[in-house]
Amino acid sequence: MTATRSRFIAFEGGEGAGKSTQARLLAEALRARGIEVVVTREPGGTPGAEAIRALLLTPPGDGWPPHAEALLFAAARADHVAHLIRPALARGAWVVCDRFVDSSRAYQGGAGGLGDDAITALHAFGSDGIRPDRVILLEGDETALAGRLAARGQAADAIEGRPAEYHRAVAAAFRALAEAAPDEFARIEALGDPQEVHARVLAAIADLLP
Ligand SMILES: Nc1ncnc2c1ncn2[C@@H]1O[C@H](COP(=O)(O)OP(=O)(O)OP(=O)(O)O)[C@@H](O)[C@H]1O
Ligand SMILES: [Mg+2]
Repeated sequence: MTATRSRFIAFEGGEGAGKSTQARLLAEALRARGIEVVVTREPGGTPGAEAIRALLLTPPGDGWPPHAEALLFAAARADHVAHLIRPALARGAWVVCDRFVDSSRAYQGGAGGLGDDAITALHAFGSDGIRPDRVILLEGDETALAGRLAARGQAADAIEGRPAEYHRAVAAAFRALAEAAPDEFARIEALGDPQEVHARVLAAIADLLP
């Protein structure tokens, strides 16, 4: 392994945008360059956070009230940051994360109506406000992305199963976050074959490569 400066990359976007596919392709490309890469996801990534993921995506009972949901995401993230992300960055690895705090900002803060200040405050408390070096926001036509999910044929979880209106609000919130911080976000067209999208992702992180 080549010694490299650690980097933290997060993939964001709505359901079926290709986050997991592109996180895997990016990790493979980085490893081919001799870089140590930790690929992880949210909610989850550590045993504690994966346990919270199950509570969030398959809620026991009637579903979480919005504030409880936001707290659970923040708690999962605090564990993930403390036990996996910070240690990996400290030893010089790259961390490629499938969703991070901007998902909480777009879903719970934006579409869920809790507001950005509340989510940002939870993140400051839980995870000392850690930010990725770059956020790759995958964006594409709503109908085309819905088709991908339908083709995958997996049952929707508690969040994915929310109405189209909610998911449109998520997309709008992501767009607003990216527009407000153009240096942090790279907005990537998610339509096109996976290798085509991957090439766009590589171009968007080229300046971070050793
Ligand atoms: N560029 C692409 N073109 C066509 N299909 C794709 C592309 N990228 C991913 N897919 C397929 O679309 C589906 C969703 O992709 P993926 O799971 O990577 O998205 P995701 O953003 O991680 O979704 P989720 O929000 O559900 O986790 C998968 O079946 C995947 O194989
Ligand atoms: Mg995924």
